[in-house]
Amino acid sequence: MTLTRRDMLASAAAFSCLPRASMAEPGPVLNAREGVQQLAPSDFAPTPVWGYDGAVPGPLIRLAQGTRLRRRLVNDLPQPTAVHWHGIRIDNAMDGVPGLTQPAVAPGASFDYDFTVPDAGTYWYHSHNRSVEQVARGLYGALVVEEAEAPDVDHDLPLAIDDWRLDPATLQITDDFDSFHDLSHAGRIGNLTTVNGRFDPEQTVRAGDRLRLRLINVANARVFEVGLSGLEGWIVALDGMPLDTPLPITGAFSLAPAQRADLIVDVTATSGETADLLSLERDGGYGLMRFAIGAGGASRRPAPDALPPNPLPALSDPASAPLHTLTMQGGAMRGLPPSMLGATLLQPRELAERGKFWALNGIVDRPADPFIDIARGETARIAMVNDTAFPHAMHLHGHHFRAIADTGALGPWRDTLLVPQGQTRQIALHADNPGKWLLHCHMLGHAAAGMMTWFNVS
Ligand code: C2O
Ligand code: CU
Repeated sequence: MTLTRRDMLASAAAFSCLPRASMAEPGPVLNAREGVQQLAPSDFAPTPVWGYDGAVPGPLIRLAQGTRLRRRLVNDLPQPTAVHWHGIRIDNAMDGVPGLTQPAVAPGASFDYDFTVPDAGTYWYHSHNRSVEQVARGLYGALVVEEAEAPDVDHDLPLAIDDWRLDPATLQITDDFDSFHDLSHAGRIGNLTTVNGRFDPEQTVRAGDRLRLRLINVANARVFEVGLSGLEGWIVALDGMPLDTPLPITGAFSLAPAQRADLIVDVTATSGETADLLSLERDGGYGLMRFAIGAGGASRRPAPDALPPNPLPALSDPASAPLHTLTMQGGAMRGLPPSMLGATLLQPRELAERGKFWALNGIVDRPADPFIDIARGETARIAMVNDTAFPHAMHLHGHHFRAIADTGALGPWRDTLLVPQGQTRQIALHADNPGKWLLHCHMLGHAAAGMMTWFNVS
């Protein structure tokens, strides 16, 4: 029997009587595709990139705390991909990790993301498939969740800070993503920094303006040492989460890959001068972004209040919570321990021939079984032991955590922690979000070269 147009209209009418609540409409399209962008100064050639909607960064996503975010990822790239919503305490099925929480989205296919954002703050989204290449090509964007009552500022600026490796002759992104030297050393360090996809951009402000700078380190591996000139103020949030008390900025501070810092700063430079956001990691430092100062002259305001706290779960008795150890091993100057555990049962030399240089607790790459199982509602501690010659930016999915100092003092809530070479950091998390959650180094070459595990909350 063939359906007539009238039959179809009749059945459409019948369907429209059904309750619609479960028939979620897809969100707006987020299209992962190739694009071209002027990364280098305008007298140089533009650079082919991969971007969300073809741009770097992808579209700024801004929404109110507690509301729903829906996007239909459409993959028009030549590789499979997936989107991870970094720092969002999200439903596990929406976390965007191929092989753990969803299948990778094949070229030409799509995937519907649909979740609620419980916490206000500065987050970001990025590819989580072959991220050592896909993030380096530009697949990231800023995700801002607004407080019900936002602090009073004159400009609210999300600033995605990147570090590109371009061929100096062609300004193309070099395709040496799997360079064994980078994988086994500090990762892919670039030769051009951008803020929001532009080299040394300029923003006009007035003397005395108050700015909220939402810094996001989207680089593959570079740790920025952020400094200010002509601007004075406070760090008010880290990795999205408000500090209990705004922290006055007195010098440079580190921003490791994937970390965010929300600053509230006042323009202290005067009309005709400039102010700068700098990175001071090298002698003398270099500019990330400039502020041109227009006339104005508002007088200095009092220090800002702390941002309203997010509904994070309290840690229960962290000092006596079960303690698990996660030892980072491998890399240049140390190497992997001789007999490797895990499914591969390969010797370090054979692993190195496959581009695998790092291990967590003796296991290279994400194992079949979780590193730990935590019962939902429990607090657990992890001692992260860095037994390598490099720092690592360790990131947990689905949960924020606090570092515990030797004194027992608890650090700020974070989702990514820089663990310096040769040192140990103890963290505590409250496992309130069921599912399979990745734990890995956010120096993306290290993750690709083995530094990746996961934990289960059930
Ligand atoms: Cu920002 Cu596992 O990632
Ligand atoms: Cu690392």
